Amino acid sequence: MTTLLETDGLTRRFGGLDAVSDVSVTVEQNSVVGFIGPNGAGKTTFINVVTGFLKPSAGRVVFDGNDVTGNRPWDVARAGVSRTFQIAKPFRDLTVRENVALGSMFGPGNSRSVAASLTDADEVLERVGLSERAEARPGELPIADTKRLELAKALAMKPRLLLLDEVMAGLRPAEIDNSIDLIRSLQKDGLTIVVIEHVMKAILAVSDKVIVLHEGKRLAEGPPKEIASDDRVIEAYLGERYAKRVKEGGDA
Ligand SMILES: Nc1ncnc2c1ncn2[C@@H]1O[C@H](COP(=O)(O)OP(=O)(O)OP(=O)(O)O)[C@@H](O)[C@H]1O
Ligand SMILES: [Mg+2]
Repeated sequence: MTTLLETDGLTRRFGGLDAVSDVSVTVEQNSVVGFIGPNGAGKTTFINVVTGFLKPSAGRVVFDGNDVTGNRPWDVARAGVSRTFQIAKPFRDLTVRENVALGSMFGPGNSRSVAASLTDADEVLERVGLSERAEARPGELPIADTKRLELAKALAMKPRLLLLDEVMAGLRPAEIDNSIDLIRSLQKDGLTIVVIEHVMKAILAVSDKVIVLHEGKRLAEGPPKEIASDDRVIEAYLGERYAKRVKEGGDA
């Protein structure tokens, strides 16, 4: 298997706090890697450092064999990495369709005309199930559609690596199932995907491997089934109630 993304000793400090602390991980080409960990574990900071929104305090980020450590966000994006934001930041005065078209314009093949970008946007909106809201303003969307818009913007950049920061938070079970199907179908199309999520069921369903962050550090890594029954993980993250249910064979 080829490694698409690799971090080596990646660290990000805020004052005296190591939000990301000596994290070395690999993401294999065309795999789905789930990141879990309690609130404040460093998941979003990890994405921010990988994508150039924050400079690392130490360590390296290698994408597709190239050292991209400390590169600017737009350079990382142009190399083929796109991400969603946990707190969505759409352009409020543009329509949903126009917001997505901007993603297409700024992707790797960014000599796209406005017309071509709008066509791309229509395709992506269809794929994420947001076509009916194409002419709405982002502020009019319910939470589930706001999440879809984030995903659509990232997809419109035609990335090779997609980093999803809690795109299922606040979704209903049926909507989570749709997201799971979508992630699987994107993987089938050749994408490599990092999924940060608190929704355990979804992480276990889509991930080829799961990485657990705890207080900035990589606490554990392994296949979903192993991680779900790892005592350290259960203690750090899932809590005793979950552990009890897993041991009793129930659905977490
Ligand atoms: N810009 C910042 N300045 C100072 N501290 C920060 C900053 N960004 C994050 N932190 C701190 O770094 C730690 C990790 O935060 P981060 O947002 O990466 O966690 P997370 O795993 O994404 O949590 P959540 O599940 O709540 O989204 C937290 O203690 C947070 O308060
Ligand atoms: Mg976060």
